[in-house]
Amino acid sequence: MPEPQINPWSSNQSVDVEKLFAEFGIEPISPVISELTEVPYFMRRGIVVGHRDYRPIAWAIRNKTPFHILTGFMPSGHPHLGHLMVMKEVVWHVQQGGNGYITIADREAHAVRGLSWEKCNEYGKEYLSCLYALGFEGQTYFQSKNNRLKDLAFEAATKVNFSELTAIYGFGADTDLAHADSVITQVADILYPQVDREPAPTVVPVGIDQDPHIRLTRGIAHKMRMFTIEERDGYISIRSKNAPEHALNAIKAAFPHAKKYEGHLDIKGAQCSDVSEKVRRIEREAGGFAFFTPSSTYHIFMPGLTGGKMSSSIPESIISFYEPEATVRKKVMSGITGGKMTREEQKCCGGEPDKCSLYLLNLFHMVTDDAELAEIRRKCVSGEIMCGHCKKETAERVVAFLKDFKEKMDAAAEKIEV
Ligand code: TRP
Ligand code: SF4
Repeated sequence: MPEPQINPWSSNQSVDVEKLFAEFGIEPISPVISELTEVPYFMRRGIVVGHRDYRPIAWAIRNKTPFHILTGFMPSGHPHLGHLMVMKEVVWHVQQGGNGYITIADREAHAVRGLSWEKCNEYGKEYLSCLYALGFEGQTYFQSKNNRLKDLAFEAATKVNFSELTAIYGFGADTDLAHADSVITQVADILYPQVDREPAPTVVPVGIDQDPHIRLTRGIAHKMRMFTIEERDGYISIRSKNAPEHALNAIKAAFPHAKKYEGHLDIKGAQCSDVSEKVRRIEREAGGFAFFTPSSTYHIFMPGLTGGKMSSSIPESIISFYEPEATVRKKVMSGITGGKMTREEQKCCGGEPDKCSLYLLNLFHMVTDDAELAEIRRKCVSGEIMCGHCKKETAERVVAFLKDFKEKMDAAAEKIEV
């Protein structure tokens, strides 16, 4: 089968962020940051780098209007530090007023990774403990146990065919149906808050590897609408895709100046936001989904301690929340750094923090104070600190962090009943 450019199920990919942005239309996050009232550290530090349609979310945060925040985890192993970023993004958005949703993608883990349902359940609960330990509030569910989700997936499946799946994921004749089913279930996950609660902007924070799912979902969300609304030269055009006639009439009644034709209406002198809102309400009343096209943010991956991606399939690359202290220390101490070959060379020329898995571990999670992080960076590039010492300090931070976090996870585990 043709190899897609981004494969969500591959564990060894290095992605060229700039190229992806240019090719797939992901936009850099920096211009949008100024629209937020409070800039989270993961945007300040360049961890979250890109987005699709984040502006409606920034707007909702500023104006305190409803929005949803959803992400998902495939329970194919213990959660580890590599999962923490996206969890923090969710918690931050909930604190900014978003309705939080977490999906445990057990269907995907079972279909794609062959995990037993028991294991999915066990790992899934661990992910939920992490989220609650971070202060998550909102709804959580396992895909396999959510019937409304599965109905929505079936409905969404009417809007996608195999040639699209081939184009996006490289699926071929040998792809099993459950794999395809897990894809459409993820589409349904992303749309679920708008069905469960109300249509509203929804943001899905993900790593870049998940963008194919985002693209597919955005297309399907659009196809599932009864109407398309387009701003044209001096007027707004509303086209019915599959709306009942009475819904078109309701729009005409809401905008008496509108010109109604066969299957479409043109409205002059109206505000697009006002038209969108009214059309959405009418669509809902007529039994439609009235989806907002979901938005997304993209974060870079924290590299694994062995370089490359943090992946459960390479145990030395990850630090899981269930790791004994001694192993944590050992892994950190043998992590790949941006240090020089010799002490002399490092003293004179300094290390390269941007290539150092431990610096990035500090940048992502271990050092919350910006000034302290800047100091580590300065000492590294100036050759003032040697890697051995720096690693030890990092190991202490990680151990302390995990101890505290594990306690919170254990306390949170009581909240979870599945
Ligand atoms: N596919 C995601 C992963 O591999 C998990 C996932 C399922 C997800 N549903 C989602 C992510 C919805 C974001 C939104 O981790
Ligand atoms: Fe990494 Fe620290 Fe070595 Fe710099 S001094 S390369 S930050 S381990």
